Amino acid sequence: MITLGIESSCDETAIAVLENGRTVLSSIVSSQIQTHAKWGGVVPEIAAREHASALNSVFCEAVSQAKIQPTEIDLIAVTQGPGLVGCLLVGASFAKGLAQILKKPVVPVNHIHAHVHGALLGIDKGDAEIYPTLALVASGGHTNLYYMTSPVQFSLVAHTIDDACGESFDKVGKMLGLPYPGGPHIERLARQGDPTKCKLPRMLERKSQMAFSYSGLKTAVANQVKLNSKVISHADIAAAFQTEAVGQLIRKIKIALELNSNVKSIVISGGVAANQYFQSTIQDSTKVPCYFPGIVYCSDNGAMIAAMGYQDFIHANGLVTSLHDWDVFSRYAFEQYKS
Ligand code: KG4
Ligand code: ZN
Repeated sequence: MITLGIESSCDETAIAVLENGRTVLSSIVSSQIQTHAKWGGVVPEIAAREHASALNSVFCEAVSQAKIQPTEIDLIAVTQGPGLVGCLLVGASFAKGLAQILKKPVVPVNHIHAHVHGALLGIDKGDAEIYPTLALVASGGHTNLYYMTSPVQFSLVAHTIDDACGESFDKVGKMLGLPYPGGPHIERLARQGDPTKCKLPRMLERKSQMAFSYSGLKTAVANQVKLNSKVISHADIAAAFQTEAVGQLIRKIKIALELNSNVKSIVISGGVAANQYFQSTIQDSTKVPCYFPGIVYCSDNGAMIAAMGYQDFIHANGLVTSLHDWDVFSRYAFEQYKS
């Protein structure tokens, strides 16, 4: 089964072609990062217009690289939300138009959930070997931990009560004078530092509450930079920050593992999943197999949207909502915590 995945929720116009839910035939990502750099952040109106002008050529490239004809597409998956509403509308309109021309079904996809499936692309394991799983999505906008019993059943176990993990890497990067996005630069700088040289708080350590928090850590780093940067190097601050930013994710995953002893795997996704220190530390601290996305699937891409849409379609036995029954959503409606 050939699935086309369309992603346009923020500043990447991305389309991928997938075979049978996990095999990527092509994945094209057109980034707008240069366009927005001069404004110091993504300008929603400009982003939406850029998607509108890029989508058709990204689609043609994706189909051509996959060596298929558009008529061979069986299913279209598109990001429904969360994201910038104008950007989402451009992608959803493109998907609905294409569906009418090709007479093929469209599945609206939750972008956050899709990140989890981005970590499973190309993996040669059956569902019975993966689920139940604990799935973390740690990106610039979200830090969500899910307990999943199947590819489509997401039960939110924990989320951040303030900043997202990736956001804190970006903010701390700025404090240390590093370029945006801060994550990869902090990781590089931290390799030269000693985390024990800079004292930072361990967030929510004694609280049994399953949640993440990064705002206090960010303030503690700001204080260290202001008061102690003559005696503590930026590399030591970066190393201490990374140790706690990642350490907190691992602490909470370990608590969730204790609470859910039937878990067979851990799936880590989102931009922060690219962090090599995170990957090696979590793998060393648990016996449960850990899955991470290939580096190109950590950030936003069409393949993860196609993978999620494929699962939604299969698990709904091919039943899809009509083109007119759904609209995009900009904000993420948190699911209920698992009790
Ligand atoms: O998933 P993503 O590409 O975009 C969304 O936010 O949707 O995540 C981007 C985030 C940024 O905050 C970036 O600093 C962080 O992922 N990031 C990293 C690393 N690479 C990217 N954080 C820590 N270590 C990295 N190597
Ligand atoms: Zn994303």
